[in-house]
Parts: sequence; structure tokens; C-alpha cells
Amino acid sequence: MRVLSIASECAPLVKTGGLADVAGALPAALAGQGVQMRTLLPGYPAVTAALRDGAEVARFDDLFGASARLLAGQAAGLDLLVIDAPHLFARPGNPYLGPDGRDWPDNPERFAALSWVGAWIGTHGAGGWHPQVLHGHDWQAGFVTEYLRQMGGRPATVLTIHNVAFPGTTDASRMHSLRLDPGRFHVDGYEFYGGISALKAGLMGADALTTVSPTYAEELMTPEFGMGLDGVMRHRRSALTGILNGIDTDAWNPATDPAIQPYAGLDGKAANKAALRAEMGLPDADGPLCVIVSRMTHQKGLDLVLEALPALLDRGGQLALLGSGDPGLEYGFRLAGDQNPHVATRIGYDEALSHRLIAGGDAILVPSRFEPCGLTQMYGLRYGTVPVVGLTGGLADTVINASPAALARDVATGIQFSPVTVDALRGALTRLCQLYADRDTWSRLVANAMAQPVGWDQSAQAYAALYARLTAGR
Ligand code: ADP
Ligand code: GLC
Repeated sequence: MRVLSIASECAPLVKTGGLADVAGALPAALAGQGVQMRTLLPGYPAVTAALRDGAEVARFDDLFGASARLLAGQAAGLDLLVIDAPHLFARPGNPYLGPDGRDWPDNPERFAALSWVGAWIGTHGAGGWHPQVLHGHDWQAGFVTEYLRQMGGRPATVLTIHNVAFPGTTDASRMHSLRLDPGRFHVDGYEFYGGISALKAGLMGADALTTVSPTYAEELMTPEFGMGLDGVMRHRRSALTGILNGIDTDAWNPATDPAIQPYAGLDGKAANKAALRAEMGLPDADGPLCVIVSRMTHQKGLDLVLEALPALLDRGGQLALLGSGDPGLEYGFRLAGDQNPHVATRIGYDEALSHRLIAGGDAILVPSRFEPCGLTQMYGLRYGTVPVVGLTGGLADTVINASPAALARDVATGIQFSPVTVDALRGALTRLCQLYADRDTWSRLVANAMAQPVGWDQSAQAYAALYARLTAGR
């Protein structure tokens, strides 16, 4: 089975969030299922620099403004197709943002180009390789189905929704610069509330839709979570399935992780906790050391943590946070760190520190208002760092709440709270401190967390079965 994955970021080459982790992990996870996956990426500087033996397999005279080449090669163990288009992608920094921290004004065209090349490969192949399935991720791959219609290509199409909060909208006047067929500017096409939405185009056009957890699949069909696309989701209900993400269990393995002092169980966490406290300048304390590794946006509910913090600190708990994003939240956590010796804040993006935090913490807080899947709570499980999570999306599907019944049956792996409010978070932090103080219960919770499977096995089978179903008889 030949599948082209179409993604705007892919770990370890270029990453702003979990989408990159998933795009980076899928090819290896699916190889075991007989799927040969190649990944189409924009030629950002980090990608073209890493590409080894890149061979030109196609040339485009005018790819949204200038000529471009399609290169095939390998990097970081991935089989890549890379769009070498300096006018679109040879830019510094993040894939989406300019140096001023704002979206590049031509993002609609930049990712339309990604989708266009994806559709082109689906129609013409690349260097003799013809994918049977085009598997796009998020709005950046939304127009694939629109361009396939224009080109007459016939591969099966899958679109995975990692976050419906990014609909890829732009003004209707961009229709021509985006090379969209004006005749498809209607409710069954790419029109969205009078404008254009790349995600909507893909949601209407793809043969199959997936999202990254079963609970989020249900939530997407509700006005509360659908962000204006819930009607489209309900309309396409029969095409939509939730397939839970896994994590890279090699990169995130407490027994072999080069960034930490490797360990196999609760006892081994003590050395990492002591090292983390020393690194973060935190004194000893009796309560749990909570950690957070997160983008700082409204989605992640970190404002609730600032408000509920006394519930943790008053019981001897501590907090260490690594993140960046919203300036108001960055300021709030910096201030909390300055004002309280038991709070440590590091603003920035730091892969190695994220491992040390997750290894050294007792608990990881993920109080998201919505969370399509979430990966850090799974890192927490694997490292015996008990997740405290809002009951939503993938957080609902990956954590077993320490209810009296679950504790009695010894199956609990974390703490869930609902609704996602300051009061409920306070309650969860109070519960955390109580559980932590009961050493027997705590050690069973940690052991259960570490034993919970968080890899790709099941989900890789689900994707492979989906591809097989879509291509049967084609
Ligand atoms: P999202 O994709 O919504 O940001 P996920 O939990 O799916 O949320 O994925 C986030 C990924 O980004 C995880 O791999 C997490 O460890 C990583 N991450 C987020 N913020 C940082 C940071 N400041 N430093 C290092 N890694 C981070
Ligand atoms: C998105 C979501 C996150 C998910 C990730 C990977 O960034 O916000 O919940 O884990 O995609 O699918």
C-alpha cells in the first residue's frame, strides 16, 4: 500500500506541536502494517538542509508565483518528497509565522501550493512512485481534493483533523490566487460563511475523515467544539472516525532516555526529581511537583492553573512550567515564578528540558478546554508522571480517572476533572495532593500509569484498515 502523507510540519525536522510528532511517527508505525508512506513537506530551510541525496523528480514553471522543483530523498529516517520553492518556503523561523510573530500574509497560497503538489503527485506520481492514497493533515492539506478534481487524479483521499480551531480561512477574493474553481464556491465546496476555508474544502471532499481521538470525533459534531464546522461534521458523520494518536515510545522511554537519569519504576524518579528541582531552583517540599509542557494558548487552559495555583501551593505542592505563546500567559507565569519560590517558569521551546520535566515531575497538568488528542499526558503516563487532565477529547480517552471505583479495582492512571473550570481544577489539585500523600495508593497509580500502552500499534492497524477499505476495488 503506497500512501502519500501531506503535512506542514514533521518531527524531528520541523515542529510547532503534536501534528509534527504524529506526521513524523506515522511512517514507521505503518511500515509494520505493509504501508509504504512517503511524506510531502514544504522545503523550509531546516528540511532542505537535512535532505540527503535529494533528486529532482519534477519541475513546476509557476508554483504560485515562481518556478519550483520537487525533490525526493531521505532525512531523519523518513522518505520525503520536498517542495523546493524558495519564494514560498525559504524563510526564517516557524513554518507559519514571520519574525513579527504574525502569520505570513501569503500563508493561504503557501499551503495551497503544498496541497496542489500533493494532488499533482496523486495524479502524475513522483519519479515513478504512484500513491494509492493521499493522506493530508489539517487545513494545510485541505485543498488537495479541490485540485484533484481539476487535475482528474483518482487516488483515495483521507483528511485528518488535528485541530478544528484552525480552519484555514481567507477572503473570497483570494479564490483566483488560490487557483480554486469559482464554480465550487458554494456550501458543498470550499465556501465558508461567505469566505474560503481550506479545512472545509477537505472536509467536504475527502473520501474519509479521521480525527485523533474517538471522543473528539463525537465532540466535533457539537456546536460547542465544532467551531462552526459542526454542521459539516454531522453531514459527513458516516465518513468520520476517531483514531487515537500514539507516542514515539523510543524517543519517550524512561529506561533509555539520554536526556534524563534512566529509570524503570517509581523509585528511579527520585533522582530525576532532585535534579529537576536543582535545575529549576525549587526547594524541597512535601507535596507533589507538578509540571506543564505546553503551547500557551486559550485551548490549553493555563489561565485556570494561574487561578487555581493556591490549591496546590497551600498543600505543599510545586509547579514547574515550560512553554511559550500568549504574552499575557507568559507574563502571568513569570510573575507567579517571581512571587513564589515553589513556582518555576521557563519561557521557550526546549526539547531536552521537556524530557527532564516529565521525568522529574510527580504529576503533569493538562487542563485543556478542548484537546483533540494531546501527547504530553501520554508522555506522563509512560514516565509515571500522573496526568491531571480536563475531561475532553483525547484526554478523556487516554486517562483512567482515579475514582473510588477505579482505585478499588486498581486500574486508575490519573485524575480527570469536569467541567474545565477553575473550581473543578482546584478540586482536582486537592485530590492530587491527597492521593500523593497516601504512598501506597500513589505508587499503584504510578505503576498503572507506566503499564498503560501508549504506542502506535492499535492505531497503525486502524489506519492500515482504513486505507485498505478505501482502495478495495479501485
Ligand atoms: P498541541 O499539538 O496542541 O500543541 P500536543 O500535546 O499534541 O499539543 O503536542 C505538543 C507537543 O509539543 C508535545 O510533543 C510537547 O512535548 C511539545 N511541546 C509543546 N511545548 C513545548 C515546549 N515549550 N518545549 C518543548 N516541547 C514542547
Ligand atoms: C493538535 C491538537 C493535539 C493533538 C495534535 C496531534 O495540535 O491540538 O491535541 O495531539 O494535534 O494530533
